Amino acid sequence: MLVGGVVDRLWLTGVVSTASAQEGRATAPPKPMTPAEMQAEIERLKTLVPSYSHPMQDVAINWASLWFAAQKKNWPLARYFYNEARSHIAWTVRINPNDKVNGEIVDLKSIYDAIDTSSLTMVKDAIEKQNSTQFVAAYKTMLESCYSCHKAAGKPMIRPQIPTASILTIVNLDPNATWPD
Ligand code: HEC
Repeated sequence: MLVGGVVDRLWLTGVVSTASAQEGRATAPPKPMTPAEMQAEIERLKTLVPSYSHPMQDVAINWASLWFAAQKKNWPLARYFYNEARSHIAWTVRINPNDKVNGEIVDLKSIYDAIDTSSLTMVKDAIEKQNSTQFVAAYKTMLESCYSCHKAAGKPMIRPQIPTASILTIVNLDPNATWPD
């Protein structure tokens, strides 16, 4: 898929003609890898996995933006940020389902699963009901859940709070905005 993307781009920039790009795809079936080559490929792919602080930064931005979207009662946008935050927490856990803290394995996946069916669901409910009061309570409960995972993961210094300023100023939070039309 990656190679196809690169070929497409080369074709778009005129480096590869359409015919040769398609030929390349049709005539070059992947050679079977030897176990050693496969192992080398796995090691290479591992170096491409981002550190999990990267998706967590996305969580931080999306979760903060969710707060401001809900303050403006822009519920479709709130739902969008909620989904992004949730999928990035899940991604963090997929990158590292078991964290090692002081030599002990911490099962982040189980912590996430428990949060997903409790505090996260409460926030989702409030958004679906467009209920601001319920939203504020659920949002705070989720911040406590964020923190419980940080403590379990040996990161008690990362203590979340209700965000004080919107970070994503390029996105208009006003549900009644008229421009761009
Ligand atoms: C399932 C566990 C888990 C949950 C739930 C979780 N986090 Fe995290 N978070 C982590 C871990 C682990 C780190 C440390 C990553 C590292 O060591 O690089 C982290 C790091 C962070 C960081 C610092 C990122 C950086 O710059 O390195 C922020 C900010 C953050 N989390 C915010 C949140 C917020 C907000 C929530 C809730 C909406 C949340 N987290 C929920 C596990 C979790």
